[in-house]
Amino acid sequence: MCGIIAYNGQKDAIPYLIDGIRNLEYRGYDSFGCAVDTDDGIIVKKDIGRIDDVVEKYKINAMSAKRAIFHTRWATHGSVTKDNAHPMVDCAGKVAVVHNGIIENWEELKSELGTHKFVSDTDTEVLAHLVEERMKTGDSLDSAVRYTFGRIKGSSSFVVLNKGNDEMVAVKKGSPLVLGLAKSGTFVSSDVPSFIKHTNKVIYLNDGDMVRISKNKYEITNLIDKNIRHKINTVNLAVKDLGKGEHEHFMLKEIMEQQELLKNLESTDLSATQKAAALIKKARTVYLVGAGTSFHVARLGARLMRDNGMNAVPVQGQDLPSYKKILSKKDVFVIISQSGETADIINSLSVMNGNKKIGIINVEGSKLAYESDILINVGAGPERAVASTKAFTLSAVHITLLALFAAGKKKEALRDLNLMNINMYNLLVPSVMEAIDRAAQRIKGLESIFFLGRDYDYILALEGALKLKEIAYIHAEAIDAATFKHGPLALVTNKTYAVVIVSEDTKKDIMNNLQEFKARKGKLVGIAESNAESFDLFIRMQSGGVFTFVMPTILLQLLAYKTSRQKNIDPDYPRSLAKSVTVL
Ligand code: G6P
Repeated sequence: MCGIIAYNGQKDAIPYLIDGIRNLEYRGYDSFGCAVDTDDGIIVKKDIGRIDDVVEKYKINAMSAKRAIFHTRWATHGSVTKDNAHPMVDCAGKVAVVHNGIIENWEELKSELGTHKFVSDTDTEVLAHLVEERMKTGDSLDSAVRYTFGRIKGSSSFVVLNKGNDEMVAVKKGSPLVLGLAKSGTFVSSDVPSFIKHTNKVIYLNDGDMVRISKNKYEITNLIDKNIRHKINTVNLAVKDLGKGEHEHFMLKEIMEQQELLKNLESTDLSATQKAAALIKKARTVYLVGAGTSFHVARLGARLMRDNGMNAVPVQGQDLPSYKKILSKKDVFVIISQSGETADIINSLSVMNGNKKIGIINVEGSKLAYESDILINVGAGPERAVASTKAFTLSAVHITLLALFAAGKKKEALRDLNLMNINMYNLLVPSVMEAIDRAAQRIKGLESIFFLGRDYDYILALEGALKLKEIAYIHAEAIDAATFKHGPLALVTNKTYAVVIVSEDTKKDIMNNLQEFKARKGKLVGIAESNAESFDLFIRMQSGGVFTFVMPTILLQLLAYKTSRQKNIDPDYPRSLAKSVTVL
């Protein structure tokens, strides 16, 4: 997962692309690079580090060109070095390539290209040399790219720039690519926000699409299926939604936006949910598939469906093949994915072949959105921080609506949604924000911490622990409080901390578990509607009927955010992580 953006047109590409690539930094930030087509040939600048630092170091904003390709990298093949940063060039420095994906047969191709000079450890470099090799034998740029597309295995989208050629050529295979059709020229990019300032007319490319982009036009050919038609979509995305607003970080902005997004849901068209509910109702088994944070949504949805008498199983993408032998055509899949491009899920699509798929997805035009028979767009808007917050909450709320609609409880669902929105106004009051600050202060120095909860609260504990790991670099382990006595209790000393979520439904049962923890002198940060003797620190939550889970979710997100800040970590760009993981 990397970010790609390129432009060919009548205007200066450089300011457009510098601005555009910043909006793709969530896709990876190990290194940044660009290839710029100038009168003196293709100039490549690249280095490790954050985009703005590399731009500054190489004075990239002082360059000017009508055609250029930019790239931000999350390292897969080859470590984080300047040589491994994209673009990759051929031996003669005439062909430059930016790439997002994995070329599975790169070693085989590299050995075929024995006489070529390779300078990196990446799989991407074979693309530049394959194109060069074909062009040496007389192929045009597009036929060399067509040939290259036919030779590579795996999921790979790339853009090629060639010296002295008015065109650039882009190909989509697996990883996302979208065209932006501006009056002044054409963009091709991994994601719409990168060019939305210039146009909201977009074409979501299909696998196999090859696009020749010249100054004044573009031409799409599908290399797999000639009959594919391409629709120009008008995207509804405000430029103001892309910034940090008044906040220091995207993550904080995204946490704080949730209140408004949840309120808007009350007036959102829920007809897709209604249709999906009809499918769920008829299903023999409902499999809910997700990865990372989205898997926690799957767990929440499955639990609620089971509690309402449905046969529902949460599955992580990589485990789905193990269900193959017990699948029936009457089973329905619910796919949860913020990005719609997580490789673990895409890879499991073949198992779902022939079954109905409901997508609960945030990114329009993504692969998984495209594969879904019914699409529920969670409507969280662009999520830029690597750790998912608003997309988690919105997906969880949508899956709750879906489960309750399928259970014939639409009225109760809408009533509780309204109740939750009303009570939400009391959630982030100053005393609660101060309590979270105090808790963050207390846990920031820990190496390890437990997150406890029972039933639904245990799923929130899993999500809270994941957030803390991701952005505060503290080992956090979520345990169902009911099972704590079966082993983990042996770890508790007077230095052990646990964050515990206590909703009214679990209160009676969990309090005994907490006594066992306290008897070993462990310290508790309690998230509950009312304080309890066993809590060393208390963060007050609110209720919201069946949507009560939203309240601790937001508090846990803020706890992770504040702990991260107290440790002086940039929560938007945690080390080693990327927002959408398109490798297995
Ligand atoms: C990566 C991200 C996580 C995310 C997971 C699933 O691991 O770092 O934050 O939850 O992918 O992503 P998806 O886009 O499928 O929800």
